[in-house]
Amino acid sequence: MDRSNESDRLAFSYLSTPLGWFAGYLWDFYLWCRKPMPTINKVDPVAISNAQITEAVEQTMSRFIAERPLPHNLREAIEYALLGGGKRLRPLLVVRSCQAVGGRLEQALAPAAALEMIHAFSLVHDDLPAMDDDDLRRGRPTLHRHTNEAMAILAGDAMMGLAFELVLANMQPPALAARIVAELAQGTNDMIAGQVYDTLPDFDPAMPEMERLRTIHRNKTGALIRAACRMGAICGDATEAQLVSLTQYGEAIGLMFQVVDDLLDVTKTTEELGKAAGKDAEKGKLTYPGLLGIEGSRAEVQRLHDQALSALEPLGDAAGPLRELCGFLATREK
Ligand code: IPE
Ligand code: IPE
Ligand code: MG
Ligand code: MG
Ligand code: MG
Repeated sequence: MDRSNESDRLAFSYLSTPLGWFAGYLWDFYLWCRKPMPTINKVDPVAISNAQITEAVEQTMSRFIAERPLPHNLREAIEYALLGGGKRLRPLLVVRSCQAVGGRLEQALAPAAALEMIHAFSLVHDDLPAMDDDDLRRGRPTLHRHTNEAMAILAGDAMMGLAFELVLANMQPPALAARIVAELAQGTNDMIAGQVYDTLPDFDPAMPEMERLRTIHRNKTGALIRAACRMGAICGDATEAQLVSLTQYGEAIGLMFQVVDDLLDVTKTTEELGKAAGKDAEKGKLTYPGLLGIEGSRAEVQRLHDQALSALEPLGDAAGPLRELCGFLATREK
């Protein structure tokens, strides 16, 4: 009994020595290492809503434009075209593709904003009198109606240059920025080629109509949507296999998006769309409903929808938001 009291006393006296303090620190360090890391400031990127992504992209675009030294009327025209609504589909695809391979929103913001600027430029030029000659876009007068034709041409030109500048000014390391710029350039060039096939077609007379139609749609609309998915994958540091899956997904939904756009043009009203309905027939465009009829076009939407979903299979749960977007795009009403 006495002896045990003695050993207790010895143990306590040991703890009050420098060696005891050191052992205590070691023990505390061991316990700290075993503690789970705090998760309080960690946001699950996939849990970010589409509305939050859209807001972050709009802020990135508007801050960038506000900082550029631009003539004030050009700045106003760009802001009108860029910040006046729209579904922001392409930026959403960039961010969701980045997240699908384990990346985060911040990595994808610059490419997402840059791609939306290219898209806005394509719409401004698409609406010009020399092109589709439209007066209404996103429920408001088109830019050349709001200002004038010269300003609409120049604002479109400016948005293209600014988009590339935005990537170069905001992405590191330079090798990653160069890859993103290459994707952006390829998407832009293919989109322009698609607009030429659509507006000034010069196909080989032997080319079947269905092939012409696919060539137009794959390029004029599919190219930027494909670029969105690839840019997201690249800035999320995708493996080669993941990049292939997201490219296949982008190609399927890119084509599907324009088939749906053609369908909406013949099934909805101008008020519902916020842009002129019935324009394709008026302009003699080659369209899916024109070639396959409404039911045939709907079947094509379903086929492309299913093809897009199969491409996502290897990506598992992280691709959930991309699956949802695919469903939304197949059934959208504007
Ligand atoms: C319209 O694109 C032009 C096409 C490529 C069919 P969106 O339907 O994505 O246009 P916004 O950005 O939502 O207005
Ligand atoms: C537009 O296709 C494609 C691009 C802007 C590159 P549409 O001409 O069918 O688009 P909307 O119907 O005017 O939006
Ligand atoms: Mg057009
Ligand atoms: Mg048009
Ligand atoms: Mg259209």
